[in-house]
Amino acid sequence: MSRKATASAPSNIAFIKYWGATDLEHALPANASLSMTLDVCRTTTTVQLHDEEGPDAIRIASDEGTLTTAPESFSQRFARHVERLRERMGVHGRVEAVTRSSFPSDAGIASSASGFAALAYAISAAFDRLDTPEEMSIRARLSGSGSAARSTFGGYVAWPSDPDKPDSPATQYAGSDIDLRDVIALVQRDPKHVSSLEGHRRAATSPHFATRQKNLPERMSRLSDALTGGDFDTFTELLEEETIDLHLVAMSSTPPIIYWEPGTLEVLRRVRRLREQDSIPCAFTMDAGANVHVICPPASEDVVAASLGELPSVHGVIRDRVGSGPRSESEHLF
Ligand code: DP6
Repeated sequence: MSRKATASAPSNIAFIKYWGATDLEHALPANASLSMTLDVCRTTTTVQLHDEEGPDAIRIASDEGTLTTAPESFSQRFARHVERLRERMGVHGRVEAVTRSSFPSDAGIASSASGFAALAYAISAAFDRLDTPEEMSIRARLSGSGSAARSTFGGYVAWPSDPDKPDSPATQYAGSDIDLRDVIALVQRDPKHVSSLEGHRRAATSPHFATRQKNLPERMSRLSDALTGGDFDTFTELLEEETIDLHLVAMSSTPPIIYWEPGTLEVLRRVRRLREQDSIPCAFTMDAGANVHVICPPASEDVVAASLGELPSVHGVIRDRVGSGPRSESEHLF
């Protein structure tokens, strides 16, 4: 058995969003989702196995290589994930891990999808139990982060919601030959004040939740067709409709959740202006947070990045693109 292993996994941005669960404890989604795997935003994790008993532990590596103890809430989520992974694989051994994300921790971008997918890969590799991307999707989801289930594939990834097969893994819907870019406008540095977990919990309290569920299958099918058919106008319309729909449900939940900041609106207005006045194809979307992901074809990327970067409330822009799935890394973090 190899004792130390390092893996990296990508983050992803959902086009059709997972929001609301049938079983939150096991991250079983109320609806199917579809995402684009990112390339630049990745998390790398090194895992060391120990024979002796003791608590599992995780530390965070800075860009300079300094290691700090992870915050308590993250350590608890990590420990629960490791326990479930050992159980699923039928293995034993204390796990020590170090993790580092390529995007700054104060960027306000969630690292749980890439983080838990990387952890599932690194632990599986250390125990010599790497498996198919589908099985790895289930292992990543054992973290409780549903979006992590989509980070085990490259390209565009569909994660079904099937009441008859609630444990279904994500699968690849289309490859990375469909070249789309994601220009991320950072308008908020602090972590969001209401977690996605809490958002899923409150989702069904919104009077709009049932309508959303009813509309989603058709939106999913039309958006998927527009993506593979290269119909960016239809894709734009549906992506933005879906984004507003998610935030409408969040804002009308009990109690309401408002993720938007003033900078969010500034970016949305700029996206609309770029499209309508300057004829630049681009479309906005957002996760459960204030930062805006602007999806565009390669030819729009430079103009979009420059235009968003000049807005007063945008404190940084990350230029990302469709990317590949997790991989083993030869360089260890400790
Ligand atoms: C709005 O339960 O996966 O991003 O564990 O914080 O990553 P984290 O959240 P998770 O919910 C994701 C919610 C979403 C939509 C999506 O990615 O599908």
